[in-house]
Amino acid sequence: MNFTSQNDCDMKYILLSTFPLFLFSNAFTQSDKAKELVSKMSLEQKVNMAVGMGMKIPGVNSNNGPVVGQTMDKVPGAAGTTFSISQLGLPATVVADGPAGLRIEPIRNNDSSKTYYATGWPVATLLASTWDTELVEKVGQAMGNEVKEYGVDVILGPALNIQRNPLGGRNFEYYSEDPLVSGKMAAAMVKGIQSNGVGTSIKHFVANNQETNRYSVNTIVSERALREIYLKGFEIAVKESNPWTVMSSYNLVNGTYTSENYDLLNTILRKEWKFKGIVMTDWFGGKDAVAQMKAGNDLLMPGIPAQKQAITDAVKNGSLDIKILDENVAHIVDYILNTQSYKNYPFSNKPDLSAHAKIARSAAAEGMVLLKNSSNTLPLKNGEKVAAFGNTSYAFIAGGTGSGNVNKAYTVSLAQGLTGSGFLMDDELKNLYQNHLNDYNKKNPKKGFIAEIMNPTAPAPELSISKDLVERESEQTDIALITIGRNAGEGRDRKKENDFYLSGAEKELIKKVTEAYHAKGKKVVVIVNAGGVIDIASWSNDADAILLTWQGGQESGNAVADILSGNVNPSGKLAVTIPVKYEDDPTAKNFPGIEFPEKAAMNMMGRKAIPGEVTYEEGIYVGYRYYNSFKVKPAYEFGYGLSYTNFDYSNFQLSSNLFNKKILVTADITNSGKIAGKEVVQLYISAPSGELEKPSEELKGFVKTKLLSPGETQKVSFEITADDLASYSTDSTAWIADPGKYIVKIGASSTDIKLIGNFELTNKIVTEKCHKVLIPQVKMNEKHQ
Ligand code: BGC
Repeated sequence: MNFTSQNDCDMKYILLSTFPLFLFSNAFTQSDKAKELVSKMSLEQKVNMAVGMGMKIPGVNSNNGPVVGQTMDKVPGAAGTTFSISQLGLPATVVADGPAGLRIEPIRNNDSSKTYYATGWPVATLLASTWDTELVEKVGQAMGNEVKEYGVDVILGPALNIQRNPLGGRNFEYYSEDPLVSGKMAAAMVKGIQSNGVGTSIKHFVANNQETNRYSVNTIVSERALREIYLKGFEIAVKESNPWTVMSSYNLVNGTYTSENYDLLNTILRKEWKFKGIVMTDWFGGKDAVAQMKAGNDLLMPGIPAQKQAITDAVKNGSLDIKILDENVAHIVDYILNTQSYKNYPFSNKPDLSAHAKIARSAAAEGMVLLKNSSNTLPLKNGEKVAAFGNTSYAFIAGGTGSGNVNKAYTVSLAQGLTGSGFLMDDELKNLYQNHLNDYNKKNPKKGFIAEIMNPTAPAPELSISKDLVERESEQTDIALITIGRNAGEGRDRKKENDFYLSGAEKELIKKVTEAYHAKGKKVVVIVNAGGVIDIASWSNDADAILLTWQGGQESGNAVADILSGNVNPSGKLAVTIPVKYEDDPTAKNFPGIEFPEKAAMNMMGRKAIPGEVTYEEGIYVGYRYYNSFKVKPAYEFGYGLSYTNFDYSNFQLSSNLFNKKILVTADITNSGKIAGKEVVQLYISAPSGELEKPSEELKGFVKTKLLSPGETQKVSFEITADDLASYSTDSTAWIADPGKYIVKIGASSTDIKLIGNFELTNKIVTEKCHKVLIPQVKMNEKHQ
């Protein structure tokens, strides 16, 4: 495999400086009013609507920074604006990243007396690990309030691509390896945000599961895997929450750029799913503006002059039917008519950040996953003196990098969180680490936004702690914490060595600290502060407890302290599998694919792009669908997570043993331990293999209980419909449920099944007939059982 141009990466940003100034924008349902307004537009105005107004580069001081297009600075730091036509009463509208909070410039005109910070929320991976859609909706409501109060119309999120491989650079922005979890979480987030009267852009549509060669990679994927794994989450989000906008992705799917694919954007999204909003490109995505118009990609973002020219020429020479442009522009006008900009909302620039910080803190604690807790190491005992090792204990990572980073006012570190919760911290250690980090940061100041995306400043090397100091600490303190930190983001995937696997220095630190503390009968807790999956299996035996905190946003340290102190009983569970070793992952052989330097060509921006290709040979066997079906034991399975209490599962009931339209499943969950806690209850179905091969289990529902007091019971219920039984048949171009025996499993994880029952489906059901589209252009050698 060869993937040298990993960082064609920020071609997007290189391009910016090479472009002359100019501008543009667009996109909803074609109301009569929208059609009427379109009929009054000149060709130039229509083209202006369809192409965004360009962009200033976030983090680069506005007046002299590189600019593409005639962007206007309505909200500094926003990712783009759409064109205004004042004669028709259509204002410019503003879109900004996304997805872990609103990304805008926090300080304007060098005046720090008035700031514009936004809340740094827990990342998507953490939110999914809460398995709590009500909570995610609440986070969305607060996030959307900031969008509205800072004068932004659409937030560019949530992002819900499947976490196909552990090394995916943007996995932190995505929810899960499972489409049901991804779709439900995204729908909850969209509902919450949009309840404010502002919009969302669910992204990146579709099969954008890696960053390597992100602008040019052709994803080769079967129709079934596409429908069941990669499209499904988007389908759920579109049908359940009506996002205002969808963002097409950079990559190609089976040979065609998603933004130029009529079958994806019209046949599937609009016809099959009845999507009513606008489709916008990812920033500078795709190649051919006219093909994008024809595909129904209404709005080209952020917009460059060459796109306007190409569309204008095509209408004039007859190669683009004006009716297509009119339709796209009508979608955009309909969108504009819904915006706060159109309604002239007097935004305050003063959202209630302290109220939102409280929501962020509790959401963060709800999604942290306790992986190990031998002999009740946690919670910490009152008055215990703590030694915190590891750079990251003093520089917690709130969220990932790139466009998914939020300009928040602060990040609470683990050390600050623990001190704030009344724990005694060892000062010698604290000072040593803080000096090390300050020195490093002084010598390696962060570069600008673009430079950081293209060539990120490496994190400070792990401080080497002498054996003597560890020995002293193990005498003077009661317990050791070691934090392992990881960060990643847009533009590059993670690496196996020194990233997925621990570095030599980290291994050494765990070894030294555990040896010294264990020799004195004292315990060691390892905290993993990462946006994606890392190796845990190779060192887990050394730790007494392991808490996977993910990246919990600006309140991270407080949330971790809430769990360590026992103020919050952990209830997060994994929405991704943690393998024993990287090679166990079913996609490892096909990630991040191959590239074809000999086919390098100029792209839309006049830059050399090397095409890449990745083949999803694992087919539908992504994540637990693979591990369970092929009996590969992971380190921690999908759905796994511990609590400080225990739960009993009982009283399993099925409304019938014969399927007829739907079946109701109920069970009682009882807190059988000594302290209050919440349990995530999962429902899996094992379907009969008939016409279609099936994974051994598939998640079909989940519920998080309320906080149950010791001895308290909650009845949980799930409704199983025909859609839950169906899989996509490529031969029939339809979703079908085969007749036979269906096994219903209620579990505490994908392998810890507590209750089982079954029912019979007597006749095959075709739940939905689809269109024969997005077909791979090559023969695939897909995995089968
Ligand atoms: C990212 C998008 C983001 C956009 C605007 C792109 O590079 O892929 O997720 O919304 O930039 O910043």
